[in-house]
Amino acid sequence: MKRFRIVPLELINRTSGLSIKKLRKVSIILNERGLVNYITAPYEGLALTTVGLDTLALKSLTSLNIVSRFGKKIGTGKESDIYCALDPDGNDICLKFYRIGRVSFKDVIRKRNYVTKYVPWLLRSVEAASREFKVLRKLYNRGVSVPRPIACSWHVVVMEFLGGEIVARAKQVKNPDIVLEETLKIVRDAYKNGYVNGDLSAYNVFVTTDERVLIIDWPQAIRKTQRNALNKLKEDIERLCKYFNKRFNLDYDCNNLLRKIVL
Ligand SMILES: Nc1ncnc2c1ncn2[C@@H]1O[C@H](COP(=O)(O)OP(=O)(O)OP(=O)(O)O)[C@@H](O)[C@H]1O
Ligand SMILES: [Mg+2]
Repeated sequence: MKRFRIVPLELINRTSGLSIKKLRKVSIILNERGLVNYITAPYEGLALTTVGLDTLALKSLTSLNIVSRFGKKIGTGKESDIYCALDPDGNDICLKFYRIGRVSFKDVIRKRNYVTKYVPWLLRSVEAASREFKVLRKLYNRGVSVPRPIACSWHVVVMEFLGGEIVARAKQVKNPDIVLEETLKIVRDAYKNGYVNGDLSAYNVFVTTDERVLIIDWPQAIRKTQRNALNKLKEDIERLCKYFNKRFNLDYDCNNLLRKIVL
């Protein structure tokens, strides 16, 4: 997947030991089911599709006994689809399927022929999932209020299911000043543990039904030692502070809040 847009059948033949005849038969079936694009020119080969990647991830998560039942879609982000599911003990869990480049990907398909259906967006989704999982694990293990990460497979991050709502979509927010202060505490804890979210907004602040505040969505987080980390942190705080001041008629000073985090 990393080296080829379309993996040559001949290479799969060499690495898997399956005969070309058998591979052709399987490729036709997988192509019919939309799991791969099987092409014969300019050379014979296979390109994984989004559905194919979803299937790979779900197959591995069920084989590893992480997911036992798959539920409905509970959220659509710019770069992801979020589903609920059940673990083998019947607990609710949340599956975040990365869809990096979804918008431009559709454009690519519309504008070009079938050969270009495969673009490395799938790889970028896999990388984003792995990045978010790594950050969540580090922060969660240090007691920072983020969703509990459970597993990562291909482009899917599995995490605890949160009952509640993001601030941006909540019709009512009880004690918005406390929610803002708790959010800033999370920002400070993350910073102390080496990370700046870099995309903080009311869309990524989650308030649970039992009034826990968490920051979700960490794939773009950067290390605080990176050159632009302080600027990103400043932007995060300003965005959040302005939103809370305006929507809830509060009067927080953004610079003051920033100072409290870095000191
Ligand atoms: N662990 C979770 N439990 C329950 N719902 C969740 C969970 N994580 C995310 N969601 C829901 O899915 C939505 C999208 O999640 P997230 O922000 O992580 O994805 P995204 O693609 O970055 O979205 P956006 O581009 O809108 O920021 C959230 O707004 C939230 O409603
Ligand atoms: Mg988000």
